[in-house]
Amino acid sequence: MNKEKRSAVIAGNWKMNKNPAETVEFIKALAPMTDGLNGCDIVLCVPFVDLAAAVEAAKRTNIKIGAENVHYEKSGAFTGEISASMLTYIGVEYVIVGHSERRQYFGETDKTVNLRLKAALANGLKVILCVGETLDERKAGKANEVLTSQTTKALEGVSVDELKNVIIAYEPVWAIGTGEVASPTDADLGNLAVRTTVETLYGKVAADALTVQYGGSMNGDNAAELLSRENIDGGLIGGASLVPEKFIKIIKAAQ
Ligand code: PGA
Repeated sequence: MNKEKRSAVIAGNWKMNKNPAETVEFIKALAPMTDGLNGCDIVLCVPFVDLAAAVEAAKRTNIKIGAENVHYEKSGAFTGEISASMLTYIGVEYVIVGHSERRQYFGETDKTVNLRLKAALANGLKVILCVGETLDERKAGKANEVLTSQTTKALEGVSVDELKNVIIAYEPVWAIGTGEVASPTDADLGNLAVRTTVETLYGKVAADALTVQYGGSMNGDNAAELLSRENIDGGLIGGASLVPEKFIKIIKAAQ
């Protein structure tokens, strides 16, 4: 069993929710609830405009702050984009790359996911890379193929040393925001497919050390069972990360 050796990471993905004032209020409420809970890393990925306030409010707490996306160029004529060095300058430590909503609605491809991931790592950010199959792909029996392909393409050109700063979140697209959580067995199998791909690419030691999260309608009621599975080392949580009382239940389930 290698699960004990891996760090558990519970990360919230706020998506397009909350302004800076609401962000500070949330962190002030959550921080005292996390006192003494050292069994997992706690990360909040928040909208760009909330990042500075979040970093400030999370100082001297055990909450780490992440962005929800990053551009791959250092600077230049890329209207509306944010670079990795802009994020690290204000104290951001994590970034989500390749979320299915970015892939679905904003034209993100395996190629741009790879570029964003590499730019983030080069600037010292920790990356939460999202991979996952759609319902059609699952029905067609292609789930593992999609996971292998997305994982391989996203990690192209990433060294085994850089991989230490990568977390992969298996997020079946059909389970995101739908309330339809994957069964613990299916979630574990998805995470295993990701880990097996990483083993093929980087070897067993690296694969055993990799934190693989599950994401998709995880909440306080289903988290404990999901997190008890061998290949599920944490969660990426959307809806249930927006309310401190709900989010803390998942953090507690990871202890
Ligand atoms: P959900 O979102 O928990 O609301 O399903 C998860 C995610 O998109 O990361």
